[in-house]
Amino acid sequence: MNKNNIDFGTLAIHQKHTDGHHAHIAPIYASSTFTFDSAEQGMQRFSGEDPGYIYSRFGNPTTDATAQAIADLETWNIKNLDGTPLNATALLTSSGQSAMSTLFLSCLSAGDALLATPSLYGGTHEFIMKMLPKFGIKAYFLDMTDTDKIEELLKDKPEIKLVHFESPANPTMQCIDIERIAAVSKKYGKLVSVDNTFATPYLQQPFKYQVDFIFHSTTKFLNGHGNAIGGVLVGRDLEAMKTYVHQTHKLLGVNSNSFDAFLVLQGIKTLPLRMEQHCRNAMDVAHFLYNHPEISQVHYNGLPSHPDHAISKKQMRHAGSVMSIELKGGYQKSIDFVNKLQVCTRAVSIGTVDTLVSHPASMSHAGIPRETRLKTGITDGLIRISVGLESIDDLLADLEQALR
Ligand SMILES: Cc1ncc(COP(=O)(O)O)c(C=O)c1O
Repeated sequence: MNKNNIDFGTLAIHQKHTDGHHAHIAPIYASSTFTFDSAEQGMQRFSGEDPGYIYSRFGNPTTDATAQAIADLETWNIKNLDGTPLNATALLTSSGQSAMSTLFLSCLSAGDALLATPSLYGGTHEFIMKMLPKFGIKAYFLDMTDTDKIEELLKDKPEIKLVHFESPANPTMQCIDIERIAAVSKKYGKLVSVDNTFATPYLQQPFKYQVDFIFHSTTKFLNGHGNAIGGVLVGRDLEAMKTYVHQTHKLLGVNSNSFDAFLVLQGIKTLPLRMEQHCRNAMDVAHFLYNHPEISQVHYNGLPSHPDHAISKKQMRHAGSVMSIELKGGYQKSIDFVNKLQVCTRAVSIGTVDTLVSHPASMSHAGIPRETRLKTGITDGLIRISVGLESIDDLLADLEQALR
């Protein structure tokens, strides 16, 4: 089956896997190592002459099937400049965090620098600030809405090797124009990477533009059911993926495992259906909250009032299902609201079938000094909502009674 002759939803369901017993569903290969028929075969596996498996940290049929399913979705229906279909490969990782660290440590060495947007997942920001300096890698942060400023910096700093951003970003749903930032980065020969966790390949395909690497926390929408921590790093440079990226993955030891990979693979089959319902519900929730007298602001890129609504419309199929809202009344009012919820689940994370609600000021960002927290938009009254798949009537009734 050619991945470009079928619909995205069909591709998500018809995943390829290698199994000699013709299993319908990709089996869970719970084996740490793989046997050799002879010493010579072992030799040939190590030299690459025999493509068979060696040891599950280096590669495993279940994790590879899941990684390739995601790479196929990220490249679905995209062509290279010469008209040939774009292909990519992927590596499944133990978490979204390790997909990110594998990427950065693959592409950057001592003396190099990274350019990133300030609106990043907290763990990515912390890794850049606390870990990269230990490897002699510097970071520049610049708001990526101003392409001229980006161009100035890239011209001025040849040590910048990688430009990284996420879109939409947490928690303000800021969107970056992928096409524009990738084009200016490529003009100066930089590698470009995108954290596509909030969008998934169903809503947004960064490889349509000149992006080199995409990573995800598969913990979120790709798995969808909240039962496995994981990540994936996808690359369009097949040689880079096979050599130095695979080497970093193997030597850091950040492989996923066959059981978690299996769970993600099952989740992917319903990704298009889930994303449609997630986004439909999110739009209704956003409109309801936007018009509610107890709410002062709704940060949702699907609303025309959001500063990045136009960018979001340009590069995304729908706006996604995560939003943040500001409650009038500040800290205590927000705590009361969260406590009163009966249908929505009180938890951090996003992208599960149920609606997850968190209060960053008292939970994920409680350890950050208030002044610093406010500068990044995490106000006392900010609530993050990952809208799930429940009946919209039940969701709106729950929000209404909690706001009362
Ligand atoms: C956008 C984004 N990227 C990366 C991560 C890290 O993923 P994980 O928790 O699977 O390591 C997260 C986690 O919340 C995230 O929201």
